[in-house]
Order: sequence, then structure tokens, then C-alpha cells
Amino acid sequence: MEIKSVLIADEIEQECVDILTQNGFQITYKIKQTKEELLETVPRHDAVLVRSATKITKEIIEAAAGKLKVIGRAGTGVDNIDVEAASQHGVLVMNTPQANSRSAAELTCILILSLSRHIAQADATMKAGKWLRKEFMGEEVFGRTVAILGCGRIGSEVAQRLKAFGMRCIGYDPVLNKEQAAERGIELLSLDEIWPLADYITVHVPLIPSTKDLINRQALTKCKDGVRIINVARGGIVNEIDLVDALNSGKAKGAAFDVFEQEPPIYRELINHPKAICTPHLGASTLDAQLRVATEVAENLVAINQGKILGAI
Ligand code: NAD
Ligand code: MLT
Repeated sequence: MEIKSVLIADEIEQECVDILTQNGFQITYKIKQTKEELLETVPRHDAVLVRSATKITKEIIEAAAGKLKVIGRAGTGVDNIDVEAASQHGVLVMNTPQANSRSAAELTCILILSLSRHIAQADATMKAGKWLRKEFMGEEVFGRTVAILGCGRIGSEVAQRLKAFGMRCIGYDPVLNKEQAAERGIELLSLDEIWPLADYITVHVPLIPSTKDLINRQALTKCKDGVRIINVARGGIVNEIDLVDALNSGKAKGAAFDVFEQEPPIYRELINHPKAICTPHLGASTLDAQLRVATEVAENLVAINQGKILGAI
């Protein structure tokens, strides 16, 4: 397979352009395209590179069939790409799965610590000219239990960091056995064992049919009173409406979300909830991670032209 022309359709760091230019690729840099524009530009290129904003749908893949050879994702999740349609048309989908794990894990830990000490809420009152000390009594995380659902790259990095704070890390992952999880610092349990034990539950699974609404009303009912829920994975893994009900009833004490069912979000009740802290999908938004994803996605295209085999998604 030979790639000559590359469309960069989302904001990707300059290093990507530099590597591709040095290796003789022809580049079109056109971001924030409408669906109509993508239907016109994607079929004119051998490869298209995206982050999470641009959706590479079945319709676009069908329009580009015959010419398009590679869809590159500068990041982890490929849920903005119709992978099935790509496979049907022989289009290779590749991502950079390790490049932003550390940044996403760090944000998760920051959110857990912020929840435990009401950092965001306290800061908002300071900016409003108030001095409220009694209202923001916190809790140490030391000795408390965090449940990690999905003990892959990011889940493992989260465990490693939270153990340093003295937290007990329990977790669930269908592909791991107890020994493999223990090597990652996680005590593997069933979901039914996890719900009543966890003070914090953080999800690090892909969004697939079996993980949609993984934390919903039913699961929340089984949780410890005062549980806190963190989602830095994908919107839809935690049911936002059910969680707001749990926050209102006092069943859940806090929530921290970086990702939403719709982005930008239309449902505002979770975001506006006083017990919730939210960020606009910033998990991978560090200079370090963006430099790595830009470099890796470009190097992957160079490797394809050199006939080298890439790792799986
Ligand atoms: P990974 O593939 O390394 O790990 C995911 C783990 O989830 C795997 O071990 C898998 O076995 C497990 N899993 C699958 N189904 C499960 C289920 N039903 N219950 C429990 N575990 C299950 O993925 P990763 O790189 O750690 O990424 C995790 C998530 O984080 C993905 O959704 C990814 O898109 C997202 N992500 C978000 C950001 C961000 O900016 N917020 C950044 C990077 C990644
Ligand atoms: C990812 O899956 O890598 C993240 O959603 C981060 C991103 O690309 O913005």
C-alpha cells in the first residue's frame, strides 16, 4: 500500500505536518469541515487524519471507496470512525492508543482529589467574594476504596497513582484474571462485589454496546451511599440522567465528568449540578500527549509506506 496524499481534518500539532512533509507526503490541512465538505475532500486523499471532532461516517467512507486507504486517529477511541464500514471497503483504521494514556490518567486522579476536597466549588465561591470554610469540609482519600472499571492502559495508570495516596484499588475487567489485575495493583472483583464497596468509581472502558449505561439507575442503587462517580472515558458509559437523580437524592455525593453523551453537551443538569465538576473533554489535552499523538500518527503513515506492520487498535 502506498500513501501519497493526506488530509488532516482536525487540529493536530505541527510535528505531524513536519514529519509527513519530510517524508514526501502531499498534505491538505483543512479543519472544522461540514459533512458536505468532507464528502468532497476525503475521497481526494489516500489518508485522512482526525482527532475526535470529525466523524468519519459510513457515508463518507463509501464516497471515498477505491481511493481512501487509511483513516488515522490521533488519539485512543475510534468511536468517531465507522470501523465496520472501513473494514468492508478495505480501509485501514489506525490509532495511537498509548500516546495519551498518562494524560488521561492524571486528569482522572486530579478529578478524584478535587472531588474529595471540593476544590472547584470552593474556588467558585472565592471568586464570588465569599469566604466559606465550614461548607467545604472534605475527606482524605487515604484508606478509601476506588473501583476501576476497565483495567487497561488508563485504568492501570490510575491505580498506580492512587495507590501512592493510600487508596485501596479494586476493579473489574472481563479480559483479566486476578493475577494479571494484581500485577497492575488492582484487586479484581465482580461488579456485584464492587458496587457496595466503592467510595469512588471511575470508568476506563471503550464505549461499546456492553458498556453503554454500565453505570445506570440499577447499578447506582447497589452502590454505597455517598459514592462518587468519575468518567474520563466516553459519554454514555454512565447514564447522565440516572446519575443526576442519584446526586439529587443524596445516594451519590459527587461526580466528575470530562466526556458527555453529546459533545458539546445539550443536557445541562449534570454540568450545572453543585455536586458535579466537569471539564470539556480535556483528558488528552496536554502539550506532551498532543506532541506524542501527532508524532505517532505521522510515523505510522511513514511505516505503512515502508511496508511495516502496525499494532492493532
Ligand atoms: P484499553 O483498551 O487499554 O482498556 C480498556 C479496558 O476495558 C480493557 O482492558 C477491556 O478489557 C476493558 N473492558 C471492556 N469491556 C469492559 C466491561 N464491560 N467492563 C469492564 N471492563 C471492560 O483502553 P484505554 O486506552 O485505557 O482507554 C479507556 C477509555 O478512555 C476509552 O474509552 C478511551 O476512548 C478513553 N479515553 C479518553 C480520553 C479523554 O480525553 N477523556 C483520552 C484517552 C482515552
Ligand atoms: C481519545 O480517545 O484519545 C480522547 O478522546 C482524546 C482526544 O482525542 O481528544
